[in-house]
Amino acid sequence: TSDTSNITIHSEEQPSPISKDEKSSAADSAVRASGLPRVYKNLPLKTKSKASHDVGNDSTIGLVDPLTPVPSKAQAKSKTQVSLELQAVRRTLPIWSFQEEIRSIISDSNTMVLVGETGSGKSTQIGQFLLKEPWMARGTGSSGKKYGGCIAITQPRRVAAISLAQRVSSEMGTPLGRQVGYCVRFDNQSDDSTKIRYLTDGMLLNEILHDPELSRYSAVVVDEAHERSISTDLGLGLLKGIVQARQEKKAPLKLIVMSATLDVEKMAAYIGVSPAAKPATNEEPLVATDKEPLAPICRIPGKMYPIETFYTPMPIEDFQTAAIKSIFQVHYQYPCPGDILVFSTGSEEIEELATAVEELSLQMEADKPKIQVMRLYASLDPAEQQKVFIKGDPRVRRVIIATNIAETSVTVPGVRHVIDCGKVKTKRFRHQLGIESLLVTEISRASAQQRKGRAGREGPGTCYRLYTESSHGQFAKDTEPEIMHCDLSGALLTLSARGVDQVYNFPFLDKPDRHSFEKALLVLNMLDALDDDGKITEIGKKMSKFPLPPVQSRVIVAASEEENGNENKQENVLVDVIDVLSCLSVEGNILLQPTRWNKASEGAKKPVDPLLPLKKKRKKAAEEDSDDELTVEEKVHSKRMEIVHPSGDHLTYLNILRRYLSKRSNEQKRFCQEYQVSYPLMRKVENIRRQLRGYCRLDKVGELPRDSEMKYESETMVARYPRVSQDQADKILKCFLKGVGVESVARKVAGGKYRTLTASGNSASGVDVSVHPSSCLMWERHVGNDSKRAKKEEGESDRRDEGFGEAVMYQDVVWTSKAFMKCVSKIKLEWLEDLWVFV
Ligand code: CDP
Repeated sequence: TSDTSNITIHSEEQPSPISKDEKSSAADSAVRASGLPRVYKNLPLKTKSKASHDVGNDSTIGLVDPLTPVPSKAQAKSKTQVSLELQAVRRTLPIWSFQEEIRSIISDSNTMVLVGETGSGKSTQIGQFLLKEPWMARGTGSSGKKYGGCIAITQPRRVAAISLAQRVSSEMGTPLGRQVGYCVRFDNQSDDSTKIRYLTDGMLLNEILHDPELSRYSAVVVDEAHERSISTDLGLGLLKGIVQARQEKKAPLKLIVMSATLDVEKMAAYIGVSPAAKPATNEEPLVATDKEPLAPICRIPGKMYPIETFYTPMPIEDFQTAAIKSIFQVHYQYPCPGDILVFSTGSEEIEELATAVEELSLQMEADKPKIQVMRLYASLDPAEQQKVFIKGDPRVRRVIIATNIAETSVTVPGVRHVIDCGKVKTKRFRHQLGIESLLVTEISRASAQQRKGRAGREGPGTCYRLYTESSHGQFAKDTEPEIMHCDLSGALLTLSARGVDQVYNFPFLDKPDRHSFEKALLVLNMLDALDDDGKITEIGKKMSKFPLPPVQSRVIVAASEEENGNENKQENVLVDVIDVLSCLSVEGNILLQPTRWNKASEGAKKPVDPLLPLKKKRKKAAEEDSDDELTVEEKVHSKRMEIVHPSGDHLTYLNILRRYLSKRSNEQKRFCQEYQVSYPLMRKVENIRRQLRGYCRLDKVGELPRDSEMKYESETMVARYPRVSQDQADKILKCFLKGVGVESVARKVAGGKYRTLTASGNSASGVDVSVHPSSCLMWERHVGNDSKRAKKEEGESDRRDEGFGEAVMYQDVVWTSKAFMKCVSKIKLEWLEDLWVFV
């Protein structure tokens, strides 16, 4: 690709040398006229075709009004007023004219498949359509037990569950959490009066644990089934059984599977369990026929405008720079309105790109339409996410930078241009390492098609693919279901705890290979969750009650065991372990990385040209910083050295949380700013911590003191015990070691490197891993002297002599240029003896 280092953007004082008339002529001259650098003209993108074959199904439906504004507070409309306005919008949705058909199908059948384009209204309308149906009412089964009254709608993502509940409660004019509510991990906004309940598919699995017949529901809708998350797959398999069991109890449960794109016949055969449910009158036994019964299918046709597709002629390495170029090319080439949706991989990449586009857009000529950059990723604050649904000023171009969340699960109105990086972050199980980690992989052709489709909902659009046409041809046809490449230990524990004895014989929609099963069963056995016969143990039962991966729930159970024999009530291991786990359970690192530091208060520096390739940009920023006596980085690092725990990340998180909690609420924000800790994430940590404690109390796992008794939360306690005692630190780390196990331990080898241990404890066959730069164990490199001082105070040098630090344990591994351990703490090799491993 071209060298962009000499790019300049015309400022307002530097008008474009081209006249107004020329500017408004062809798109190409607009680029020239813009004063944008030549590279924009020469952008390595070529037209493929007017993709007529990409035009969607024949449409019988008119265009959807894309604008479904959520009124701001300033407008202060009453709930009824908003609801009335939204009723008009509901009637324009493609699904609207299908409501009778949907009602009739599901009244006659226990199961159905509903397919329709993203934005056709499936997720928001299905509950409202079915609410008043006679079979929805709470009734009595043949055993006299009460069933039904509520409809569950599952989502693979918490964001979608929350925003849908908000939207539908506005449409119905009811307060959120009453008639319409949601329930996601660590956040429940629903009560006994709730009739439409949006929940993550993980939460549905949790409900099955407590209520194996899902007796509170009359219907379960599994949305976004094509995403095939592991929880969706397990949920579907379990639901098949529950539908049948409820049919036998004469209290039918309806199952609706919804999707934008789906192998419809396969799904219809999978869930087609039984003919119509006619309570009391239907005495026919369920007979298996040679042909699988097909569940009825309802298709909602969607309107799709033609989309012009562009590919790069050569493979691209720097996606960020390529995305920036494409964004501005589109902005200069196409008139407003017409928003740009950019598909990126994760929150960090999105933030980096968003900041660069924001900086660059400030340097555009005054007569160019303004750019409003918006982010969209799962860990973003729901209120922020909600903003993408509001179509703004048509004179302003919105640039929405999103993860694949915008592929099907969230409909962004106003989009006419899509820029697709062709990548996605997915969980992959690394057999070699025996752990699961997030990897950036290529998307499938089906995914690419969906992403492109976002540009053609409201008019003809364009799609810029930042990959070559031939690499597109090599993408897999469909996205592989998560269950085929994930660690199965959580799934198998989930099934075992729900009474599935022969996990291998469970009716999976796609069955993982035998090796993955064996591996997962071994892990569960090592965690003491399953006994040698593969039966669930008491520990396993306790573990399965927590909405956490087995590796983490094992830590809680270990801590609760530790707590039972604890004499020193001042320091409660379980409480501390929950605190650390809460910090680990938020999506993202509570410690902001230097690229996200808010430097505003530190005196503004000359902005670095945002068009520089990002590596050069960082180098330049670093050079400029080094002119100062103390750079922002150094200032923050020296602050952070006050809270660092020499053992590593786990206890540093605990230090941070203790200090944060000791502040009055009006001081917490300042604390976060000072140490560059994410305030929104800390709020979430507090919430998760509360919920995890709730789970412990509810399921009587461990003894927890009442919150008011937890002395260390008071300011005096933090002042007296600003750091965790060494004895306590060891206990906490040992609990975590019981969870991650020897599989996530790396031993120090020659040259200060680390190599993973295998289960046999033999480092010779391990894999080389490095400490991730985000780990606090790397901080000392930045501020050597401070760190040495801090360590001396802590007696760290003594600990080293005792063998502390000869190995590390880690919670996660990421693969970029090499394998990096994330959330790392030093341990002693002798601790492994407790795990029956001798090294
Ligand atoms: O499920 P499906 O993709 O078929 O559509 P939907 O999510 O029910 O969305 C229908 C309409 O509601 C779209 O035009 C969305 O923009 C809008 N919507 C919204 O404004 N706010 C939400 N939280 C969800 C949907």
